[in-house]
Amino acid sequence: MADNMDVKERILEVRKQVEDDLALLRDSKSVYEAKKKIMDGKTGVIGSMMREMGKIAKEQRAEFGRSVNELRDWAEKRFAELNEEFRKKELEARYESEKIDVTLPPKKIRAGSLHPVTLVTNELIDIFSSMGFEIYEGTEIEKDYYNFTALNIPADHPARDMQDTFYLSPEFLLRTQTSAGQIHVMERGKLPIKVISPGKVFRSDDDATHSPMFSQMEGLVVDKGITLGDLQGMLNRLVENVFGPGTTTRLRPSYFPFTEPSVEVDVSCFACHGKGCRLCKGTGWIEVLGAGVVNNKVLEGCGIDTELYSGIAFGVGIDRLAMLKYGYNNIKLLFESDLRVLGQVKE
Ligand code: DAH
Repeated sequence: MADNMDVKERILEVRKQVEDDLALLRDSKSVYEAKKKIMDGKTGVIGSMMREMGKIAKEQRAEFGRSVNELRDWAEKRFAELNEEFRKKELEARYESEKIDVTLPPKKIRAGSLHPVTLVTNELIDIFSSMGFEIYEGTEIEKDYYNFTALNIPADHPARDMQDTFYLSPEFLLRTQTSAGQIHVMERGKLPIKVISPGKVFRSDDDATHSPMFSQMEGLVVDKGITLGDLQGMLNRLVENVFGPGTTTRLRPSYFPFTEPSVEVDVSCFACHGKGCRLCKGTGWIEVLGAGVVNNKVLEGCGIDTELYSGIAFGVGIDRLAMLKYGYNNIKLLFESDLRVLGQVKE
């Protein structure tokens, strides 16, 4: 650098070059990178200038040093200004892009609903819980003993036929009735008993009103002085809750190996209120469940003293109640998962 003029000119040139470089920057990240590059002590156009001090003529050194310092201060200031400017813009752009439009209409959410069988099961559980019943769930795989033998169903009973029962082995099967739970509860040896047992049961049966898998709920009460009158009182509560006030029951003699006497229970037709319609086939009554006074043989088999205790039991098809209540004419509609059908039933 020969003279004063050279120093000034050089400084102006560098400044011009830096100005041009800065004019091309578009965001804060590039400002940061440009600053790093330009001010680098070894390679940067400004940063490296101080290292030239030694080569400058003595009389020009002070002038050079001051000019470079000024240039550096100027550049630092420009970087800070640019950085500030871009950061502000970037922040505004971010706020804009993340802005939530509270006036947008919401996405439609299709609310699910409980399955009709679940609805009726829950209803039954509510009714009986309010009467102080305990819930026993039992298992779907049962021993032949609990499903049949202990319930006084003899070896030659038609229900034991392979055609009706899914046997897993000579000893194990898929329970065909929730009645199996009665024995487990009585075997615990704790009296009195007031229990319901809802769950799935399985039979090799398949048509418009039968499915190989369906749901039942068993009821069992064992106490001193229990009679068929208690049973009907309980069942009236059940049908009034499920089908509406004023619905009553009628008991007809029937036969089940585990009850004596046994009854078939009809409910007064809730569609025509007894006048006779298609649902009740003109009779005013609809058959809904089986029940009876627990057979002494069954109680004694579980070690219960029949001189002191008696019991009543009933078993109801939950799917059948759901079909009646919601007007399904084919049990398959309950299992085909067609939301157009199932979605019509709401709590
Ligand atoms: N377990 C019988 C069935 O599946 C229903 C039944 C009838 C249950 C009479 C009972 C009862 O507890 O007392 O057909």
